[in-house]
Amino acid sequence: MKPLLLSPIGLGLAALGRPGYINIGHREDLADGYSITAMEAHSHRVLDRAWKLGVRYFDVARSYGAAEAFLGSWLRGRNLKPDRITVGSKWGYTYAAGWQVEAEAHEIKVHTLTTLLRHREETRATLGSYLDIYQIHSATAESGVLEDREVLEELVKLKGEGVRVGLTLSGPAQGATLLRAMEISVDGERLFDSVQATWNLLERSAANALFEAKKDGMTVIIKEAVANGRLTNRNLHSKFAVKRKMLTAQAARLGTTVDALAIAAVLHRPWADVVLSGAATVEQVESNLKALDIEWDDEAEQTLKPLMESGGEYWRIRSELAWN
Ligand SMILES: NC(=O)c1ccc[n+]([C@@H]2O[C@H](COP(=O)([O-])OP(=O)(O)OC[C@H]3O[C@@H](n4cnc5c(N)ncnc54)[C@H](OP(=O)(O)O)[C@@H]3O)[C@@H](O)[C@H]2O)c1
Repeated sequence: MKPLLLSPIGLGLAALGRPGYINIGHREDLADGYSITAMEAHSHRVLDRAWKLGVRYFDVARSYGAAEAFLGSWLRGRNLKPDRITVGSKWGYTYAAGWQVEAEAHEIKVHTLTTLLRHREETRATLGSYLDIYQIHSATAESGVLEDREVLEELVKLKGEGVRVGLTLSGPAQGATLLRAMEISVDGERLFDSVQATWNLLERSAANALFEAKKDGMTVIIKEAVANGRLTNRNLHSKFAVKRKMLTAQAARLGTTVDALAIAAVLHRPWADVVLSGAATVEQVESNLKALDIEWDDEAEQTLKPLMESGGEYWRIRSELAWN
């Protein structure tokens, strides 16, 4: 297998590949328009900036509209050889919004062998040999995917073709699901090579399981570092005012932005290999990457601890964010 080239900050294309997403100010980010051509050009500008700033890990999924296709056209257009970058994608959710901002269903989750085989072919068509990690998109105990022999056997075959196998997690049971996934082995070897999970200053419940995963040799990728925009200057919600004040004070003390501070908090976890920026604009990617220059210290660590929400509360608020 090709060695993984991991930059501490990666770029996720969830907000760049489709007109509608749940992040707070998606509408303003896409001022150039929602046509496929305009969005592809916009995503390429953000990718160019990220590349220039040293980002080498890129995250997409079948369900992020045209994100795989946009990434593929950018990689080929810039003539980047596969050994200069690492690409992770996901199967299991199908994009269903029909290039509309509002839709009855944006993504449909089906974790069966049929979906895996179909998505695998579609990903092959868009990303070809650029694909390094193929992840189950939002694996949960309820979906039964971790117990599905047919799916697991197909994932083993994928590894045989040189593609690493991962899973992504969501919801208050992230930690438990990860520990269950780590038990799955084939011929004495752990099946999953990587995990992508949510950890941020508000939601820290998966930390112990992520520590175990890293110790066991898995690659740990962190998403939603700025809590879908809640840990940025854009969050003007009155209920967040006290927490916002704490964040702003620490950001000012360290001479940085709130979003960079939130990302630096993740960079500082010893078990985190890559933190995803979900930047939707060139300005956001520039601001997010400032995290690399922050000297995270004990004062930041202690002062920001009270930001923590219970897992249940965090995921309830997230589920209430509007697609826009
Ligand atoms: N289950 C899964 O596997 C899963 C789930 C979610 C995400 N992901 C991956 O993780 C990546 C990141 O996750 P995410 O985008 O959901 O969450 P996130 O990184 O916490 O939030 C990113 C959003 O925060 C806002 N933001 C960032 N920097 C900002 C700044 N400087 N000023 C103002 N707003 C700023 C932007 O939203 P607005 O401008 O729209 O407000 C941006 O789209 C995704 O792209 C995707 O690749 C995976």
